[in-house]
Amino acid sequence: MSEVNAIDPSQYIIKDEPFYRPVADEVELFESGYASRMPIMLKGPTGCGKSRFVEYMAHKLNTPLITVACNEDMTASDLVGRFLIDANGTRWQDGPLTVAARIGAICYLDEVVEARQDTTVVIHPLTDHRRILPLDKKGELLEAHPDFQLVISYNPGYQSMMKDLKQSTKQRFGGFRFDYPAADIEAEIVAKEAGIDLATAEKLVQIAQRSRNLKGHGLDEGMSTRLLVYAAQLINKGVDPKKACNMALVTPLTDDDDILDTLLTTVDTFFE
Ligand SMILES: Nc1ncnc2c1ncn2[C@@H]1O[C@H](COP(=O)(O)OP(=O)(O)OP(=O)(O)O)[C@@H](O)[C@H]1O
Ligand SMILES: [Mg+2]
Repeated sequence: MSEVNAIDPSQYIIKDEPFYRPVADEVELFESGYASRMPIMLKGPTGCGKSRFVEYMAHKLNTPLITVACNEDMTASDLVGRFLIDANGTRWQDGPLTVAARIGAICYLDEVVEARQDTTVVIHPLTDHRRILPLDKKGELLEAHPDFQLVISYNPGYQSMMKDLKQSTKQRFGGFRFDYPAADIEAEIVAKEAGIDLATAEKLVQIAQRSRNLKGHGLDEGMSTRLLVYAAQLINKGVDPKKACNMALVTPLTDDDDILDTLLTTVDTFFE
């Protein structure tokens, strides 16, 4: 247990307030969910503010935050923990989910649908009335700290049916649907985040909105708020806006030459 007691929850506290612009009543609703430590799922496209929202809420609630980026190679042991062999013999090392359950953190499982189903089921006993985490290999039944909360995120559009979450997993969570913010709010975010003027930010948002209309017509996804912030940061550094858009908005989006041309033409209509 010595290494467990050595964990200092304050290392997971977000000290400076992250900039988060609420788009509706999600802050208040999250707080109400947190009051009963309700497991929460955030659904929405890439780069629309899900992670930023969780960071903001963890700061606001003054609670530690442990984020895990999930992937298809992830095993239950990566979440829960494993025995390690070192010079002094064998010792148990808690995984991030276990650390969060011990210290009473928010555990944020990013892109949880990417994880295999045998991985996602380890969260089941933690996300119902039991609030326990069985550490089978270690022979420990961990009762979650009263402040532990699980938050997961995923992008409903990207997964095949095979990879969808099971109903028995889904129905353990309260949910928030995220999307790219309304144009005026998104422009405000981009201007604030990158330190550029609102008029330029509004143009970037209009370009993004055109690209979002191409979703399903040659594009899997339109330009995200994240990419708009990248473009704005380049402009802030003095890069010519057209070049900034090409680099940050257009090139990463697709490998299809026709669509690339269409997007570049769109950029031309906003920036000389
Ligand atoms: N409401 C918002 N307030 C402040 N910044 C925002 C907001 N929405 C988006 N952003 C900006 O967009 C960027 C991307 O957001 P974030 O990293 O939270 O996306 P995400 O939804 O977690 O994406 P992914 O699914 O790819 O992880 C942030 O770094 C931030 O600059
Ligand atoms: Mg994220």
